[in-house]
Amino acid sequence: MQSATAITCLAELRGRDLLSSADLTAEETGALLTLAGDLKRGHRRVELAGRVLGLIFSKASTRTRVSFSVAMARLGGQVIDLNPSVSQVGRGEPIADTARVLSRYVDALAVRTFAQAEVEEYAHWASIPVINALTDLEHPCQALADYLTLQEAFGALPGLTLSYVGDGNNVAHSLMLCGALLGVNVRVGCPPDFAPDAAVLERARQLACERGSVVEVIHDPVAAVRGAHALYTDVWASMGQEEEKDARQRAFAGWCLNEELLAEADPRAIVLHCLPAYRGLEISAGVMEGSASRVFDQAENRLHAQQALLVALLGGL
Ligand code: CP
Ligand code: NVA
Repeated sequence: MQSATAITCLAELRGRDLLSSADLTAEETGALLTLAGDLKRGHRRVELAGRVLGLIFSKASTRTRVSFSVAMARLGGQVIDLNPSVSQVGRGEPIADTARVLSRYVDALAVRTFAQAEVEEYAHWASIPVINALTDLEHPCQALADYLTLQEAFGALPGLTLSYVGDGNNVAHSLMLCGALLGVNVRVGCPPDFAPDAAVLERARQLACERGSVVEVIHDPVAAVRGAHALYTDVWASMGQEEEKDARQRAFAGWCLNEELLAEADPRAIVLHCLPAYRGLEISAGVMEGSASRVFDQAENRLHAQQALLVALLGGL
């Protein structure tokens, strides 16, 4: 259960945006995970009755869309799906106008799009919280669920090592930043041409330094996963990179999260994947379905982590 200090720290999230994992402090991140765990176990009851979340999704989504919708329903609120293809957003209405109009109707916006600058523009113009529901740069809601899953498996997070193998993408970036805040050592194993963004790496290293952990980029898959407590992978071609799919499959040969790589990790290691997964490419079918896999618990945790986030941003505590 949460301490009074943790509840005070969550109260300070009211009205804020979540555009990057680094928008949260270490204390806020830890408090959100504790609240998510409490909500999952039914140890706390919270409400957002009558509150409305707008979803503006310019990319496909199963987990994020449904988990946000169910989270709001369970809290007594509701969601309006503002898919750009059925709103004026898709016909070119400026973000500055859309954000100001929607701020008069709904209580928060979750935006899934390509450029990080776009969610930043929504946040600039909106007077309500804006949540990054995935951009090309980050996926902060995913990282909260991921570290909740790691916490459930091992208890305390500081000192654990999470190894991400694959493309240094949006998911990797948020894992690096959020892990650094939580005192987790994060290793990104990737081919040299697919390394994480240099500015994100630098920021993650600063945050890790403050928490006594380490963020590394390693260009050898075995060295990247050795002794790790969690092995994580994601698609090699993200949304928007469909045309690079074949070239990427060639570039990532030897980077499949398979039984041989898993054998190099800590014997208690868990396997994570944000999903959707492509068996036989970034992950073997055996590892995906094996006893170390926590991918479906991880997907479930999107719901609990986002319930905690919504309650904090919308002041439902
Ligand atoms: N992991 C994730 O964000 O899944 P969706 O793309 O289905 O939302
Ligand atoms: N990196 C992937 C994550 C999907 C949830 C993408 O952006 O497509």
